[in-house]
Amino acid sequence: MNKQIPLTGSSDLILFYEQGTDPGYVRDLAQKLNLPVTSDCSEAQAHGIFLQLDQEGLALAGNGQLLRADLTHMLPRLRQDNLNRELLVRAAKLKHFTGTPSAVDATAGFGEDALLLAAAGFSVTLFERDPVIAALLGDSLRRAASVPELSAVVSRMKLVEGDSIQALSRGDTGVDTSPVLSRMGIQPDVVLLDPMFPARQKSALVKKKFQLLHFLEPPCSDEEALLQAAISARPRRIVIKRPVKGPFLCGKKPSFSLSGKAVRYDVLVYAPEG
Ligand SMILES: C[S@@+](CC[C@H](N)C(=O)[O-])C[C@H]1O[C@@H](n2cnc3c(N)ncnc32)[C@H](O)[C@@H]1O
Repeated sequence: MNKQIPLTGSSDLILFYEQGTDPGYVRDLAQKLNLPVTSDCSEAQAHGIFLQLDQEGLALAGNGQLLRADLTHMLPRLRQDNLNRELLVRAAKLKHFTGTPSAVDATAGFGEDALLLAAAGFSVTLFERDPVIAALLGDSLRRAASVPELSAVVSRMKLVEGDSIQALSRGDTGVDTSPVLSRMGIQPDVVLLDPMFPARQKSALVKKKFQLLHFLEPPCSDEEALLQAAISARPRRIVIKRPVKGPFLCGKKPSFSLSGKAVRYDVLVYAPEG
């Protein structure tokens, strides 16, 4: 039985690395996240929650659990027949569109939704503002790039560590597109928002795992700003992931919704698509 650990905040994190992991990678991660490092597992465990770099990549550890971003388990969902049935793909699909559509995933998390969009042909820019989640996602994308069935899809995904509200906002500049996105050469056709807290999973084990995430990620408290920023970026569509019975984001009525068993996609359609 694992004892419950106190969740005290990410400033207490430490990076534990197993022997045989790339020392340069350990150094870069520690520097980027400003974390102390140790190769002593018991020292890491004394911190309660810690980052672990082992042969399988980076994970958040604690509470007797390992939480690792992993895109390979999505492979069955990427098979063409399955992909076309994915609610998100149907919600984001632009009618009569030629060329490569561009999507911004404004709440990237572990990148699973972004992966579906990339597999459906979008070039996807993923924004993640939590540095630890961004590190876990970055590590997962790095590993996925060397999986033959995923490498082409992952090459259409670009992770940006930072706040999407700032990136998407046009502010008072009077220009047509957000200055940040325009510097990046991006005019998003679709913006995806999934600010919901991952409490929809029912099993006790998953709930326990997500305690680790809750430790890092406070519930999204700036939904209004996020939606306004997405609208200001002038995409053709905004796709919003919601719990199936949840309210509309900020009460905004969508153009249409697609519902599954656990989630619903509310779609705001802004421009003729062609
Ligand atoms: C529910 S998760 C998204 C899960 C994601 N759809 C997936 O498929 O894995 C929400 C994520 O959005 C991030 N987030 C929330 N607001 C953000 C913002 N303004 N900019 C960037 N990331 C944000 C949180 O840190 C969290 O990791």
